Amino acid sequence: MDVITTVAALRERLRGEPSVALVPTMGNLHAGHLSLVEIARGRAGCVVATIFVNRLQFEPGGDFDRYPRTMERDRELLAKAGCHVLFAPDEREVYPEPQEIRVTPPKSAAQLCGDYRPGHFEGVVTVVSKLFNLVRPQVAVFGSKDYQQLHVIRTLERQLNFGIEIVAGTTVRDPDGLAMSSRNGYLSPQDRARAPGLNQVLRQVKQGIEAGDRNYASLLRVARDTLDAAGWRVDYVELRGRATLEAPTANERELVVLGAAWLGKTRLIDNLEIN
Ligand code: PAJ
Repeated sequence: MDVITTVAALRERLRGEPSVALVPTMGNLHAGHLSLVEIARGRAGCVVATIFVNRLQFEPGGDFDRYPRTMERDRELLAKAGCHVLFAPDEREVYPEPQEIRVTPPKSAAQLCGDYRPGHFEGVVTVVSKLFNLVRPQVAVFGSKDYQQLHVIRTLERQLNFGIEIVAGTTVRDPDGLAMSSRNGYLSPQDRARAPGLNQVLRQVKQGIEAGDRNYASLLRVARDTLDAAGWRVDYVELRGRATLEAPTANERELVVLGAAWLGKTRLIDNLEIN
């Protein structure tokens, strides 16, 4: 695996590569990230993973400074996973001058996590646009764990005509149901033991709807109350249509339930598609 830190060396390395698949990450890799590399390997001859903790997408007072940086270990994991190129630039390489030009995210970003993380999706679509231009892949792979992010990036790709196939990876979970996340490492042992609760309440909503319960408001209220009672601070538990990420219409069948909630100083998110 080639480890590259500059834009010039990246362009040089990728010149003439006929098929490239991109896996953007912020590092501190786990099995969820590596599952995306595996998908990418099935899609292109050259897999480029990026590790860049993007300051632009952290809200003021967020965890940018304490976000885990584990480059040595990440590099080994990627090499073992069969990644071909790791692009791990520093901030000056990605933002050599103030990033005045920003990409405005779509309406679907102004809700759910967008309500609680001002500027977050603007930072995401801006850096992802830059990575698309730097790597110019045919395929880019993103996790469904960040469901709203995936939706927003699909819209970015369409509306700015990047001509990149966006591929979704399913959420990789610990055996107790907790979605893997770099932020899980922040959890105290007590909070880690409670953390599967988010997935559990989403599963109850999913099972209720799949069993025919149409009282969405009540199902969602029970989910929020259950988390509250278990000591979580709930940002949201909401139901959306998968195509638009808008509140579902009465007969909409393709649904997704999404949740975001805090245990102590750690914010966790999860979602489940409903059939
Ligand atoms: P990061 O949180 O590092 O996630 C990188 C990719 O891994 C994202 O596509 C995310 O959805 C996926 N991922 C995270 N946890 C996963 C899991 N348990 N199972 C499957 N996939 C998982 O998302 C970002 O970084 C950034 O916003 C980024 C897109 C890199 C832009 O900075």
